[in-house]
Amino acid sequence: MADRKSYYITTPIYYVNDSPHIGHAYTTLACDVLARFMRLDGYDVHFLTGTDEHGQKVEKAAAAAGVSPKEFTDRVSETFRTLPKALNFSNDDFIRTTEERHIRSTQAIWQALEKAGDIYLGSYAGWYAVRDEAFYTEADLIKQPDGTRIAKASGAEVEWVEEPSYFFKLSAWQDRLLAFYEANPDFIGPDSRRNEVISFVKGGLKDLSVSRTTFNWGVPVPGNDKHIMYVWLDALTNYITAVGYPDTDSELYQKFWPADLHMVGKDIVRFHAVYWPAFLMAAGIAPPQRVYAHGWWTNEGEKISKSLGNAIDPLALVETYGLDPVRYFLMREVPFGNDGDFSHSAMMQRMNSDLANDLGNLCQRVLSMVGKNCSAQMPTPGTFTEADNALLDKVKGLIGPLREAMRTQTFHTALTSIWDVIGDANRYVDTQAPWALRKTDPPRMGTVLYTLSETIRIIAFYVQPFMPDACAKILDQLSVAEDARNFDSLDIALEAGTALPKPAPVFPRFVVEDEG
Ligand code: MSP
Repeated sequence: MADRKSYYITTPIYYVNDSPHIGHAYTTLACDVLARFMRLDGYDVHFLTGTDEHGQKVEKAAAAAGVSPKEFTDRVSETFRTLPKALNFSNDDFIRTTEERHIRSTQAIWQALEKAGDIYLGSYAGWYAVRDEAFYTEADLIKQPDGTRIAKASGAEVEWVEEPSYFFKLSAWQDRLLAFYEANPDFIGPDSRRNEVISFVKGGLKDLSVSRTTFNWGVPVPGNDKHIMYVWLDALTNYITAVGYPDTDSELYQKFWPADLHMVGKDIVRFHAVYWPAFLMAAGIAPPQRVYAHGWWTNEGEKISKSLGNAIDPLALVETYGLDPVRYFLMREVPFGNDGDFSHSAMMQRMNSDLANDLGNLCQRVLSMVGKNCSAQMPTPGTFTEADNALLDKVKGLIGPLREAMRTQTFHTALTSIWDVIGDANRYVDTQAPWALRKTDPPRMGTVLYTLSETIRIIAFYVQPFMPDACAKILDQLSVAEDARNFDSLDIALEAGTALPKPAPVFPRFVVEDEG
């Protein structure tokens, strides 16, 4: 198995200043779906998530909580580690930037940058937004009536900072970055983000301040520990730390670097698509293959913000609607890359219509007919008619378009194409009317139910990355062996005569409880 294809996918590492909310769950879910899909498709996958624990923002949050940054980050990062478990995320590693392996790696990349002549000592005088952990120029800001300034892009307050600082020679990378984007048209997705990044870089790059001296919570600059490294240089480096950097001969590094995909939210695309490839190229390290920036969720039409107190707790959603329906909703409701709105009514609609009515009903109707009319055994098919073959060919033929949808992170199109076949299968049940064939033509009933069972098997294969638990139940009910559920097994058809367990519904309807 030495030459299995590899796939390295990462989430941003999350700031531990706050509890996890829907935004964190969303980014990681999208990565989980991809990681699961690629594993089913025969890839060796390394799926990384973690927490970003240094910097002024976290230091301030710790101070506000009245505890040391260490105690605070230990506590809050723990809540981030429970999220993957609760949402059935299949990450292979969880990195914390306070870990020894990461401090070593961050200092090593710093030394590589210094050696390459891309870092120099100077002093910074300008605006800084702690909330974004970002430096801004006057042009990036809005001056408010009371004289304070906020960042145009994020609304974060800025403060004036003046201190000695090391700089990274970002200005020297402008042309090389533009040439890199040109040579790698898939590097940034979707296209709107790619255009945004290119025009930002074309607008001119200034050298980037990469160290601070006015607080302590971070990785010390090697050889000058009055300075701590800029939190974004520290944070971005997590992606190489986790595969063993600076040990570039390690098995993980050899196998997985450069990463195939850094999934991020639209607010942090610049850090990943401008600073990160520049740091890497300067340090002599290959840049990642792709950065994809997804959109943001609002809650019942309102921007999610701390001041409104309307953050959506992913664990509460799971409690209310169940895990797989929430996973399905988040991937289906909004074209990936666009902004989207979470509403109870939309969630309920998806649960009852796409899940309970379309997929749930199909499985339930077919499996209970097999249970009742075929002595709970997979029936033996006779000769397939044109209608049978049309359905089977269509469902089998989906694998190509699904691979393409995953390659371009268009999860919603993956799901709509699967649901299109579910619609066909439900119509096929109605036109073939197997219940009527029971008396008139039992062998034909067997063929129809077999065709439908095969269709359900393959649909469940495809839906597994999105709803792993529900699909496991469906495949259990079809007695599909656990080691025959990957895409290599798409052609291993159900065996006639296999005993089937008693079917049970997999997708409950969401019933509004009486408020009286
Ligand atoms: N620590 C940095 C990332 C460093 S990666 C080297 C960071 N952390 S964060 O916790 O603030 O944000 C993490 C992710 O959550 C971002 O991708 C962001 O886009 C996403 N979201 C935050 N709020 C969101 C919504 N309301 N909707 C969707 N995603 C959102 O940035």
